[in-house]
Amino acid sequence: YKNKDLKGKKVLVTAGPTREDIDPVRFITNRSTGKMGYAIARAARNRGADVTLISGPVNIKPPEGVRIINVYSAEEMYDAVIRHFNDIDILIKSAAVADYRPANRSELKIKKTDDDLYIELTRNKDILLEIGKIKKHQIIVGFAAETNDLVANAMAKIKKKNLDYIVANDVTMEKSGFGTENNTVKIINKFGEIIELPNMPKEEVAHEIFNQILKNER
Ligand code: PMT
Repeated sequence: YKNKDLKGKKVLVTAGPTREDIDPVRFITNRSTGKMGYAIARAARNRGADVTLISGPVNIKPPEGVRIINVYSAEEMYDAVIRHFNDIDILIKSAAVADYRPANRSELKIKKTDDDLYIELTRNKDILLEIGKIKKHQIIVGFAAETNDLVANAMAKIKKKNLDYIVANDVTMEKSGFGTENNTVKIINKFGEIIELPNMPKEEVAHEIFNQILKNER
């Protein structure tokens, strides 16, 4: 990428799933592979940004030249984001953070019995919601993984979480969403303008996000 138009910008990206332990051998997670977030980190680096990537557990290699912070659970991701937020210019939250965790993590492996087992779940903090309350100069981009009512749900998240943009991701579409090389998204800004993108590699989606941010900054 020839144009270093993010030079001087500090970009924080979150990627991947989180894991919420049930006991020492079991956890709850989701289908995120980190591909979208890692592509965003790579695109930002290629445009000259200073990039920090906060990543849940994934099996892909981080791009060279970015600062990587590995986290496990939603709580750890929350702490890492809060720790870095004051110092950055742009936050892009492509991670698929668990909304709930087991209310009681068992220290010992839960033994099976003849009965059904019920696991009580408690709410995790919504990282974006908390960040939205303390934001100053930063530009915040959220993602919305939806299976229905894509635009309405995404728009509601922009308002509720005080975001500048949301990348609305219909995860039921072909070659889109979790685990795929490509993605099909709509970038929506806080004024409700919608940019509908065709299916394209995740790194190109990442560049489109930065194009929008830079266009509106000028
Ligand atoms: O990793 P890949 O396999 O490449 O897949 C990419 C992806 C589908 C995970 C990605 O494109 C995507 O859509 N990420 C957002 C997934 C998600 O958690 O969406 P959500 O609608 O549940 O959450 C909305 C936003 O709030 C997200 O920016 C999320 O990071 C944030 N959030 C959610 C819960 C929580 N406790 N804290 C948060 O900050």
